[in-house]
Amino acid sequence: MTPTGGARPLDLGAGWPRHASGPVTAMSDLVVPAAEAQDREPDETGKQTTRALRRARRQQAQQDAAERRYLRRLAKANADDSVPHRGSYVLGGGRVAPLDPPTMWRATTVQACGLWPFASGSGAPMTGVPLGQHLHTGATVCGDPLNWFTRARYISNPSLFMLGMPGLGKSTLINRMLIGLSAQGVVPLVLGDLKPDYADTVRALGGQVISIARGVGGLNILDPGAMGMAAARIGGQAGQALAAETHGRVLNMVAALLTIVRGAPISDHEQSVLSACLRHLRERTAVGQTFRLPDLLNVLEEGPPRVRQVTLDRGQEARYRDAVDPLHRSLLGILDGPLGDTFAAETSTRIDPDATAVCVDISRIGEADGQLTAAAMLAAWSDGLGTVAASHALADAGLAPRRWFFTVLDELWRPLRAASGIVDRIDALTRLNRSLGLADAKITHTLKDAEALGNEADKAKARGFVERAGMVACAGLPRAEMEDLGRVVGLSRREIELVSSWSSPPGWAQDGGNEEPPGRGRFLIKVGGRPGIPIRVAITGAERHLHDTNTRWIANGEAERLLAERAAVVRAVTGGDLSGTAGPTGHRDGREQQGAGHR
Ligand SMILES: Nc1ncnc2c1ncn2[C@@H]1O[C@H](COP(=O)(O)OP(=O)(O)O)[C@@H](O)[C@H]1O
Ligand SMILES: [Mg+2]
Repeated sequence: MTPTGGARPLDLGAGWPRHASGPVTAMSDLVVPAAEAQDREPDETGKQTTRALRRARRQQAQQDAAERRYLRRLAKANADDSVPHRGSYVLGGGRVAPLDPPTMWRATTVQACGLWPFASGSGAPMTGVPLGQHLHTGATVCGDPLNWFTRARYISNPSLFMLGMPGLGKSTLINRMLIGLSAQGVVPLVLGDLKPDYADTVRALGGQVISIARGVGGLNILDPGAMGMAAARIGGQAGQALAAETHGRVLNMVAALLTIVRGAPISDHEQSVLSACLRHLRERTAVGQTFRLPDLLNVLEEGPPRVRQVTLDRGQEARYRDAVDPLHRSLLGILDGPLGDTFAAETSTRIDPDATAVCVDISRIGEADGQLTAAAMLAAWSDGLGTVAASHALADAGLAPRRWFFTVLDELWRPLRAASGIVDRIDALTRLNRSLGLADAKITHTLKDAEALGNEADKAKARGFVERAGMVACAGLPRAEMEDLGRVVGLSRREIELVSSWSSPPGWAQDGGNEEPPGRGRFLIKVGGRPGIPIRVAITGAERHLHDTNTRWIANGEAERLLAERAAVVRAVTGGDLSGTAGPTGHRDGREQQGAGHR
């Protein structure tokens, strides 16, 4: 249909005959209300005078401006960076008076991926033994020097240095690492437990606890131990190399003992004499048999040609005696002097090379018995590290599976002060631990322990322990101490404040109801220049029983009850009977540890 002519272009109906669209159109039923009832703009109602229209336009402009202002304010209030955390102050801004903390759950990325965007990574390390919860985010924090070195590769050498005031839970945390690492097949070695802090844990792990003290148990320092056995088993050139190394280890050990008894190092020619005597004895002793210090004295006394040769005696008895008498006297000093016969008798219990854990308990040596403590510690070290070397040699020869070790040096200040030679031993260990397949944890109270050492060289070496440690953990420490530590490991002001706040009580409660010392179980873990990770360690019932160093502070009957409970836990864990004990146990499979981390 086309319009039939039409003059006015805007008159759309023009030219069409009436009813051209049919009898009924969409508009046919339209009821148009009366003009007064219609919703009109102001300028359409009332008088349509020029003045009225102007006023109406002005009013309209004001309303529009107000609306624009409102929208602008709304947009600004709802911009991403200006919404206050309780919602913006505008209408529809979501403002609430109190704010409920959001509920947090922990889940794997497989489970939580559907919750996007509400899931967030914890930012806490998850490799290693579950240690505790992040103090601020509550995320589980895992870590230990061995896993951080081998798997996570956060640190360049597998060692941990821990500092903190006494009684804040340092040994407890290391006990947890021992349990967790043991579940991974790592062998914990506590070579010289001074308190004992670890004997119960090692027993519960099914490991070996060896006591050394006067009249309790001894160690034959001339026994080649696991290394000697491994050398015989490996045979060939590799076996000979290991045997030579064993000889060196025994020689060093005798030299170290002589140094302790004498208070001064032994001379080079005395070392040669000792070496010649040891070789002579080894050749005269059947394979698998051991010899003891009295046998060594007999050789000196007798003076076989090979020993005489190194003394340059030129066939004169007097010259020989002059050369060996000082050594002879010092060896007699080991046998009958301050060390008793602890190192001269046969080894009472040898370190089992296949043990799941080993603890050499020297806690029964008196506190004041500095020389014996130092000697026992060195002997335990020599024997323990020999076992490590033997295990690796056997693994290299394909005769045994490869095993990794974790050694603990608790209360480091005591061995450091006990004898000068120990600083060197520990120093060597911190440099060699990577090649020995041995991770270590050193624990002491403050950096000042290094300053208290006798000579400058020892001080410098002891300071180096912290500098070289891959991982540093601090429990509560006074501020001045933290400032010093900050110069070594780089601590921020907030970190210093946090850790120093752990060493002072929150208030003076009168009723004694708050039995926890401040900062117990709180640690700051530092790795290099990274910000520290503050954690809170919650211990389980079993851990509390396995390691409670405060039993002597409890009234008599109570202490006995606690000791009985502790013994029951140890029995239950060792016997595999886990029901009916006070605390949740079962750490052999690591489940216990997981639980501890989530608490
Ligand atoms: N996280 C913790 N929660 C509660 N008690 C703890 C915690 N850590 C340690 N303890 C308790 O504190 C006492 C001292 O712990 P210990 O590890 O011997 O301290 P340190 O080695 O720092 O001197 C022990 O009786 C232990 O059971
Ligand atoms: Mg301790």
